[in-house]
Amino acid sequence: EIITWSVDSAEKGGYEHFMLKEIMEQPRAIRDTIQSVLANGDNGKVIESLDVTRFSKFVITGCGSAYNAGVVAKYVFEKLCRVPVEVELASEFRYKDPIIDNNTLVILISQSGETADTIAAMREAKRRGAVTLSIVNVMGSTIAKETDYTLYTMAGPEIAVATTKAFSAQLVMLYLLAVTFARKLGKLSDEEERKLFSEIASLPDKVSEMLKNVDTIQKYATTCVGYKSIFFIGRNIDYAIALEGSLKLKEISYIHSEAYAGGELKHGTISLIEDNTLVVAISCCERLYEKIYSNVEQVISRGAKVLFIGNCIKALPGEKLEIVNIPVINELFSPSLSVIILQLFSYYVAANKGLDIDKPRNLAKSVTVE
Ligand code: G6P
Repeated sequence: EIITWSVDSAEKGGYEHFMLKEIMEQPRAIRDTIQSVLANGDNGKVIESLDVTRFSKFVITGCGSAYNAGVVAKYVFEKLCRVPVEVELASEFRYKDPIIDNNTLVILISQSGETADTIAAMREAKRRGAVTLSIVNVMGSTIAKETDYTLYTMAGPEIAVATTKAFSAQLVMLYLLAVTFARKLGKLSDEEERKLFSEIASLPDKVSEMLKNVDTIQKYATTCVGYKSIFFIGRNIDYAIALEGSLKLKEISYIHSEAYAGGELKHGTISLIEDNTLVVAISCCERLYEKIYSNVEQVISRGAKVLFIGNCIKALPGEKLEIVNIPVINELFSPSLSVIILQLFSYYVAANKGLDIDKPRNLAKSVTVE
């Protein structure tokens, strides 16, 4: 037997695409990022050195998936810190005459640290006297060098254009930042803080378990290649991660997609639901389960099929309803688990269409021009 071997396949660690390799690396990326904060690592020192009590608000900005990480973070920061948070697309923030001053912390999120709009947003924030903190994956990049405080995600080099492990590392960095800030602001008891950190620390094992069994979602994805349009819905933090699920799908599968807050369905997207539309619903906020379930019923009664992903689902599967159960965790950190299924779903839909997953048409890994 002749064994064929190429540098290319060796770099992909036996996977067909970098994207799948990077999805599988997420337990490590998350664990290393947690360690860099909690195990007296450099990131932990940077966070401790920041006097968070001086800020009247936080502004989070970035582009693409980095912006979506910011939308998730808004829910986490506001819930734990009780400080108002604005999330802005960097391309909008830079031209909007933002209301910020030296009592504002501007958090810039960027995998590459070289995205033109995010660099411009950072410089605008500095010009107006705000304190800047970046969450960056590439060491020594422009954003990492120019912000007042720099936190490095420990995802390692990411090759696939569509981000997976860098996004997951951003999420955990944001959770850790939010918990530490909340403690510094006197919003958490030692016991509460310890409990939150231990839930964050449980993420790598939970993600690892999920990645051991991808068959269900892989098989389901093979039935989804024909859809012209796929909608993602969720409420609260499930809506935030629906934005990322939708972006991931359109980036690599070229299927039109939108994310909608469950409660807004009736104000627009429901008019697009007809026979054989696919709706991906996310349910990790148990207190809102009945609400999202009623959205699921509404779209099914109008002919849609539903992929229902969550950790508190009480419905039974049926001809129109596929259910993917994921591990239970505090709703604030659940995006790190639901996003795994969303990434795998996008990946396998695109793989079944035979597309160039690592280099989708018209997209670049890092957009360094406006
Ligand atoms: C491009 C990439 C996305 C990424 C976005 C922001 O659009 O394709 O995956 O989320 O840029 O990039 P950054 O390097 O700033 O995180």
